[in-house]
Amino acid sequence: MTDQQWPADLGPIACVVGARPNFMKMAPILRAFSAHRPAMPTLLVHTGQHYDNDMNDRLFVDLRLPHPDINLEVGSATHAVQTAEVMKRFEPVLDGRRPSCVLVVGDVNSTLACALVSVKKDVPVVHVEAGLRSHDRAMPEEINRVLTDQIADRLYTTERSALANLMREGVAEERVCFVGNVMIDSLLSNRELAHSPAKTLQLAGIDPALLDDPRGYGVVTLHRPSNVDQVETLQPLLSVLREVSEQVPLVFAMHPRTRANVERLGLGELLRTPRIAVLPPQGYLEMLGLLAGAKLVLSDSGGLQEESTALGVPCLTIRENTERPITIEQGTNTLVGCDPQAIRRGVGEVLSGVGKSGRIPEFWDGQAAPRIAADLSAWLLARRARRAA
Ligand code: UD1
Repeated sequence: MTDQQWPADLGPIACVVGARPNFMKMAPILRAFSAHRPAMPTLLVHTGQHYDNDMNDRLFVDLRLPHPDINLEVGSATHAVQTAEVMKRFEPVLDGRRPSCVLVVGDVNSTLACALVSVKKDVPVVHVEAGLRSHDRAMPEEINRVLTDQIADRLYTTERSALANLMREGVAEERVCFVGNVMIDSLLSNRELAHSPAKTLQLAGIDPALLDDPRGYGVVTLHRPSNVDQVETLQPLLSVLREVSEQVPLVFAMHPRTRANVERLGLGELLRTPRIAVLPPQGYLEMLGLLAGAKLVLSDSGGLQEESTALGVPCLTIRENTERPITIEQGTNTLVGCDPQAIRRGVGEVLSGVGKSGRIPEFWDGQAAPRIAADLSAWLLARRARRAA
């Protein structure tokens, strides 16, 4: 097959992105599809769930993502409205462009919305980052993960534990393929391009001397509604971050949801110290540079748990659970919940040199996307042959 063209009757692979954490997963996949022989044609659909410069445009540039072929421009709304809008606007795309399959990544609302439209139109659904489970149904992402996996035809996993989760939910083993972690493909291919942390602070108008502390510096991100929407959780979290900053300076890249809540709840004073640099959401290359140079990461993000494991930087995850257990078992991640005492203890351990150093999990080697291209190409061609028979 290698020298041949992609069959003309097999439509493009519709690749869906919607929100920030999708972009670093899709970039290596698109590159692998175009490098594959025969080249696999794609149609990049952006739902517009994230839309502004900080959450979207800068990441497209950093990750060298092509301009989307289609932008559904759904924007922000309640979960129901956002999901419904994506579905309404995505359906005509399938009718008009007749893709061979729809490839979705991760667990955001756009992931589920596009998967649901596709399965009802008999277009195969391909899910990258399948089978991760926090077992916490209060997380909107957990619902998106469980439902997307139920209707996906081909499921690519990042760690071996995902297969057991899927089989427990009745997903047939032959639909699942362990390929490794595409987000780490992005990290490894961009590592050399990462921006210097000092330059990032300087551009944000903050004295980079903050980073010269003998104990190093910590990187903070927080955006989960369960952590940032109520004063009862956000206030103690910000208070303990302020305490921590007296031991080690912090660079806090603040999500728009968190910024809005800090303002609404009048908590800005807690962050007003020269030991905490509050930055807007960062570009990919800025964040990569900040992470690579950090002494520790304090975050409730899914992606940062994996990126800090890949970089060997201890990560204290401000959540009660994780859908990415390998980052705890093999990587540098520790769950500290939002208990100030556990956060203090975790930081103390890292600063006294007993933080986790971890090891790199299997197949987090920069080759996950080429594995997907090889498997998906064979799978689509075999499906086509079966249908023609
Ligand atoms: C979404 C994902 C979450 C992911 C996160 C990364 C779901 C259910 N959640 O959550 O899994 O970790 O993205 O950021 O899909 N906003 C902007 N500019 C933007 C986009 C959003 O200012 O470009 C603000 C809006 O005020 C919006 C709020 O951020 O209301 C939340 O955005 P939304 O996409 O609803 O969810 P996230 O919290 O970002």
